[in-house]
Amino acid sequence: MCGIFAVVNDKTNNAAQTVLTGLKKLEYRGYDSWGIAIKPGRSTEAVDRLQVEKHIGKIGEAKTNLPKGKIAIGHTRWATHGGVTDENAHPHLDCHQQIAVIHNGIVENYLEFKEELIKKTHKFSSETDTEVIAHLIEEKMRPSVIPSEERSDESRNLEKAVFETFNSLVGSNAIGVIDFESETIIACRNGSPLVVGVDEKNHQFFLGSDVPAFLKHTNRVHFLDDGEAVVITKQGVKLFNVKSGQEKKLILQQLDWQLEDAEKGGFPHFLLKEIMEQKETIAKIASINEKEILEIANLIRQGFRTVLIGCGTASYCALAGKYFFANTGFESQTYGAYEFLPFSQFANNKTLIIAISQSGETADTLIAVRAAKKQGAKIVAVVNSRGSTLERLADIVLSVGAGPEIAVVSTKAFTAQLVTLYLLAEATSNKYEPGKKKIKELSKALHNWLNKQLTNRLIDLAKELIDQEHIYLIGKHLNYPATLEFALKLKESSYIHAEPFAAGELKHGVITLIQKGTPCFVLASNDEVKGEILSSAAELKARGGRIIGIAPFNSYEFNEVIQTPDLGELTIFANIIVGQLLGYYLGVGRGADPDKPRNLAKSVTVK
Ligand code: G6P
Repeated sequence: MCGIFAVVNDKTNNAAQTVLTGLKKLEYRGYDSWGIAIKPGRSTEAVDRLQVEKHIGKIGEAKTNLPKGKIAIGHTRWATHGGVTDENAHPHLDCHQQIAVIHNGIVENYLEFKEELIKKTHKFSSETDTEVIAHLIEEKMRPSVIPSEERSDESRNLEKAVFETFNSLVGSNAIGVIDFESETIIACRNGSPLVVGVDEKNHQFFLGSDVPAFLKHTNRVHFLDDGEAVVITKQGVKLFNVKSGQEKKLILQQLDWQLEDAEKGGFPHFLLKEIMEQKETIAKIASINEKEILEIANLIRQGFRTVLIGCGTASYCALAGKYFFANTGFESQTYGAYEFLPFSQFANNKTLIIAISQSGETADTLIAVRAAKKQGAKIVAVVNSRGSTLERLADIVLSVGAGPEIAVVSTKAFTAQLVTLYLLAEATSNKYEPGKKKIKELSKALHNWLNKQLTNRLIDLAKELIDQEHIYLIGKHLNYPATLEFALKLKESSYIHAEPFAAGELKHGVITLIQKGTPCFVLASNDEVKGEILSSAAELKARGGRIIGIAPFNSYEFNEVIQTPDLGELTIFANIIVGQLLGYYLGVGRGADPDKPRNLAKSVTVK
């Protein structure tokens, strides 16, 4: 997790401010706390060590109090080891404030190192795994056992010390290290993303967990591969193989990415803006990826075993995709990517892994993909963010083009991925063109339906449910994954316990939870299981539940209904959007931050 940002040769001579601005763009990776380390510029009197500032909480409108300077690193954190405190925020320092480290990942063997280092009299000030990295580097550069007069130049070889330290870490990690004396930043990657940017015009160099963090400065970049490191000095950027220490040729690529509009555009929150943007994003997908979709459909028709994987929202998208494939006569399997490893042994060169991820950086999804790739499987990435690790691992990329999704709670990226899977399923049975037509109809229907009348109705419902602590939801067939996603939106946005069930599971224990007045959402469509889901609704009602239908029809089993457009199997899009909006209004009403819910991060880059 966490976001990494650094600058060398900051043209404004205010590197700390430049880092702070970059970090704001990385807060989707974690927002428990943030921090910056700077080598103060020459004008700052008698400073012989790095200056560090750290704070808990989101960056918001924060300003930095650090002195001027041209080289700095910064970090926005999602806590893994050690609670959310100023001390545990990054950067972490060595004993003499000469080295500071920022880190994305988990050092699995940090406790062994920590014990050894404490014996060697290193002083620790945090509970993090990261802090050992700073002390390990210090130890390798200035071994505490060697008296200072006997130390050779070799003992101050920063690169060697950083590379050796990095190679000794177990786990998926990316680090950034700043050295006071040599004014150097070194970054290494193994598993967690890092990209270096070069602004040749101003002779400025950047490091980030992703490109948008520094895109306003430069679009000339190199995405580090696993096992690569960069050494950034005033003179420029050098690329290395971190294992062998050998220098490699740095070849920059020029991206054609635009600085995307990440403003709220008059909406009070990104979440609401992104929900409403679905009026446009859904239609857009019907006109992209045609070549790739037809190519993948062909592979499926040739008999490739289709396995859909993802985490969180993306895993529910995978499950809905499985129903779409079944409806067109193709069997597929789905796994939460975090549970895939025991089954990766069954992948081979006739397996098609469809990995779904908004960010393309989710650690569990990448681990699953790498495992399947090792077995010879073909990888399809269904991603929203650009330039991600998943995109680079994939054989075929279906970029869903929903645009930047800033709110942590995924909405428009989810529906864009779901449309992509729908079109893919339709294409397998040679119905790609009619599928596109249906998506255009869906978009049109959503356009008319997503109006003030609907939002007012949902605001009223949110007011009625605001003090509830438990909500239950049921759905069947395609409305089952829809129910899972609906419930997730309620949980993430409002912190209400919302528990989804397959309607068929109701009688097997779940029904004991229903009491007089318990809110029960019933998601339904005009499909072949309409009768069954209404029977389940009747059973809930008979136990005193308050039945709220989310469906394109009303029925006597419902106490009330939020009516959605009647779009056949695509009705689930509207049913899910009700959950997105209701979650938003409940969250606002309950004082949650709809864009950055507590304890979450948009991109979960640790196992
Ligand atoms: C986090 C986010 C979810 C997201 C999941 C998978 O949990 O909060 O919104 O669904 O990660 O992320 P991905 O980027 O792989 O879709």
